[in-house]
Amino acid sequence: MDEETRQRIADMDEEQLHRIANLPKVELHTHFEGCAPPVFIRGLAAEKKIDISKAFKADGSYAYRDFVHFLEVYEAATSVLKTPEDFARLCTAVLEQSAENGVIYQETFLSPDFCGGGDVAAWREYLHAIQEAASVAERAHGIVLRGIVTPIRHFGPDKAKRTALCAAETAGDWIVGLGMGGDENKGKQRDFAYAFDMAREAGLRLTTHAGEWRGPEEVRDAVNDLRVERIGHGVRAIYDLATVDMLAEREITLEVCPGSNVFLGVFPSLDQHPIDQLRRRGVKVTVSTDDPPFFHTTMRDEYVNLAKTFGWDEAILTDINKTAAGAAFCDQTTRDAILKKLEPSS
Ligand code: ADE
Ligand code: ZN
Repeated sequence: MDEETRQRIADMDEEQLHRIANLPKVELHTHFEGCAPPVFIRGLAAEKKIDISKAFKADGSYAYRDFVHFLEVYEAATSVLKTPEDFARLCTAVLEQSAENGVIYQETFLSPDFCGGGDVAAWREYLHAIQEAASVAERAHGIVLRGIVTPIRHFGPDKAKRTALCAAETAGDWIVGLGMGGDENKGKQRDFAYAFDMAREAGLRLTTHAGEWRGPEEVRDAVNDLRVERIGHGVRAIYDLATVDMLAEREITLEVCPGSNVFLGVFPSLDQHPIDQLRRRGVKVTVSTDDPPFFHTTMRDEYVNLAKTFGWDEAILTDINKTAAGAAFCDQTTRDAILKKLEPSS
């Protein structure tokens, strides 16, 4: 760490950290069900008399051993969300939480597999309910939500095609992208090229999880085989500087989720996380929470932790928010409105 950064960290007082925590924030990478507070899921499970008690620890938080088990617990928690109304209630809870954290614009991964089993007509009903709830939250809190349809990698390429069809059929001002999540260790990015091509042809913007668990080759595959313009995580690109430089040259934006990476053990601690190194080498990095209650994090916590660890001050974090606004999949009018809210005077 250079002397200037060391000094910046030493000079940070509570007042500055408070200002940093309160910055308006643009968050590009959240999984909708992964934002569900455990108390919300437990309440819904009790209402519907579904026993998912194994998904929780005694203190009520989510319980899982590792990433693959996390995905299982995630799907168990999601199993209590049955109707469009359940998803609307979730949307209200999620956006209230995000707005409290100063998020002014959020993109979230939505899965037709969980909303009507991949059927286009059913998906439209779920989407309608979610959008209605998001409009109410926008009027109440000023937060803007947009959806990215997500194929789930470990569900396989055939399901991904159905998911992409749901995405293509509902592409527009609100469903703005396709972004694959799920178990990165299953299959190859190129197995999903058909789904991504369909989405691209429908005018959707593209992102995929890569380089969270696998290395630089996976990140290159995402760019070359799926032609994505953003990457979820991408952080393991750091193990090959040529890949890092490719990301910088092609202006690929990374949706980095530092708290998630540390909690899941991708890196042992935040000070060993490559986000600052990637930024310094010219990669467009942004900051998100992924699945905040699962990883015991919030956007406020992320910002304060980055400030304390890397000396990121208001100027750097505002710059990162502007990068995120620039890479957001929304239309230009929405982007201009976000950028205006990021100006210190507003
Ligand atoms: N689904 C929910 N969270 C995820 C993550 N961090 N990586 C891949 N798939 C996910
Ligand atoms: Zn993710």
